[in-house]
Amino acid sequence: MNKISPDTIRSWKGTGRRISALTAYDFATARLLDESGIDLLLVGDSLGMTVLGYSDTTHVQIEDVLHHTRAVARGVSSALIVADLPIHTYDSPELAVQSSGRLIDAGAHAVKLEGGQACSAQIRAITDARIPFVGHIGMLPQHVREEGGYRTKGRTAQERSFLLDEAKVIEENGGFALVLELIDPSAAAEITRTVSIPTIGIGSGTECDGQILVFHDLVGYFPWFKPKHAKPEGNVAGEIRKAARAYIDRTRGSVE
Ligand code: KIV
Repeated sequence: MNKISPDTIRSWKGTGRRISALTAYDFATARLLDESGIDLLLVGDSLGMTVLGYSDTTHVQIEDVLHHTRAVARGVSSALIVADLPIHTYDSPELAVQSSGRLIDAGAHAVKLEGGQACSAQIRAITDARIPFVGHIGMLPQHVREEGGYRTKGRTAQERSFLLDEAKVIEENGGFALVLELIDPSAAAEITRTVSIPTIGIGSGTECDGQILVFHDLVGYFPWFKPKHAKPEGNVAGEIRKAARAYIDRTRGSVE
């Protein structure tokens, strides 16, 4: 299979070819998803919850993302690997470039950070350093504590116009794609029509240029929190529990 590059993803804008993206945090999952033909794998800082058991992404350190990016990179031969810059790893343009370089050295092909206008200098510094960049606007999980929860954005005219400006900042500063998280579907559709770079939605309706989902939500591997937008295609948690109970019964001798 051909390697997917940032230019490949960008070239699909307006062609009707939708981007299919998932998160991945480990070798086996990354390899299975890559072999299945996924376009883009995000080593998201959602690993803080799904893999490390934190309550939100604000506890994630760059070492965590580096560790999981290396594992994912070993399993991928064609998908584009994007790694998240965790909170406080892009507090200045210099730090953003340094942190992004570390993620690229670990095997990522591109990096992502949360925000637009507030981080425009960081985004410009990253793209000036020739590091491919993906934006992320809407609900920003790294701000969940200030915001007091996960809520859909873009329902008011003011929020909608703010989000459009955010998207334009990412486009103007050289981002090649843009994640829209928990954005009102009609606002997400308007952003998608307005910018020249592909949008990748999560909980933002069907009119984006692609979709991304947390892997655990796709396969039913995180039964303790199920976002409304996730439509699980499997029940891995149930399978694990079933196999574990069968093994426990077998090893305790209740079954031959
Ligand atoms: O960390 C993550 O999984 C993400 C997705 C929600 C897009 O940023």
